[in-house]
Amino acid sequence: MREKLAALQARALAELADVGDLEALEGWRIRVLGSRGELRELQRGLGGLPPAERPAVGQAFNQAKNALEGAFAERQAALNALALERELAAQRVDVTLPGRPPSVGRLHPTTLIIKQITDFFVSMGFQVVEGPEVERDLYNFELLNIPQDHPARDMWDTIYVDPPEVLLRTHTSPMQARVMERQQPPVRVVVPGRCYRYEAQDATHEWMFYQIEGLAVDEGLTMADLKGTLSAFARRMFRPDVRTRFRCDYFPFVEPGVDMSISCHVCNGVGCRVCKGTGWIEILGAGMVHPRVLEMVGYDPERYSGWAFGMGPERIAMLKYDIPDIRYFYVNDLRFLEQFR
Ligand code: PHE
Repeated sequence: MREKLAALQARALAELADVGDLEALEGWRIRVLGSRGELRELQRGLGGLPPAERPAVGQAFNQAKNALEGAFAERQAALNALALERELAAQRVDVTLPGRPPSVGRLHPTTLIIKQITDFFVSMGFQVVEGPEVERDLYNFELLNIPQDHPARDMWDTIYVDPPEVLLRTHTSPMQARVMERQQPPVRVVVPGRCYRYEAQDATHEWMFYQIEGLAVDEGLTMADLKGTLSAFARRMFRPDVRTRFRCDYFPFVEPGVDMSISCHVCNGVGCRVCKGTGWIEILGAGMVHPRVLEMVGYDPERYSGWAFGMGPERIAMLKYDIPDIRYFYVNDLRFLEQFR
């Protein structure tokens, strides 16, 4: 019995020395020290010994049990320490590493250019107002002197929400009537906002784009006010020495109507790729507010006159920053957007 016990102890201790992780250790404990383990198994044989031998053998059992339990506890402590060490090593943080810079958002180039443009007009005494993108035919066309069957409607390919009355505004001009019907002259407003046209996309056309409308109505306003203000605007936006050119153009809500070109900022009017050899680049439409338009909102056209313009801020930005394609503004490519601040 004693030999068996000694052999068990020696073998179990040897096995314990080989146990490499906590899972194997638990297996060893169940196998050796468990309630159905090898030690208990051997202990059951105690009953078969002559009574005289029992105390001594019993004592030997207790010693063996204590020794094995002690060894187990030691091994367990060692393996726990090892596991902790491994975990710490795996989760090691190098506090000397440089931090990760947070990515900082910035304003969209369209937002930036709109701010530059409206800032100029604010400095000239204009107010900035905004209006609905879902608009009524009444404001988008009718009150702009474009009746239902007028051929000029072909100028704006319209997306209808609820035809024939509800549509997505094709320009910011509907805000002319909306502003005038709720206030008396003098009026000086600029209106930035999104517009929509049922149109094929290409490098210079989007079905959704921005416009900035301008409107000034007062006693005694003339074409000279229009030309002076818009020329000052062009000098501020492009170069102090930029020249402007006004030519006749047709919009039903202005008379006379014009388009304004600037001398090409790339070749300075000599002729190049950007201005298609003409030396001039068209940047906006404008004109003197048509008397019918003033009349329809209840202004007296004998007393008041006004001028208006509409421009595409993306087009201004494309010229100013040499951006070749308007679609860049709408695809959220960070490589493009990150260049503006
Ligand atoms: N609304 C016109 C357009 O979209 C531009 C414009 C505005 C022309 C104001 C004259 C006066 O084409």
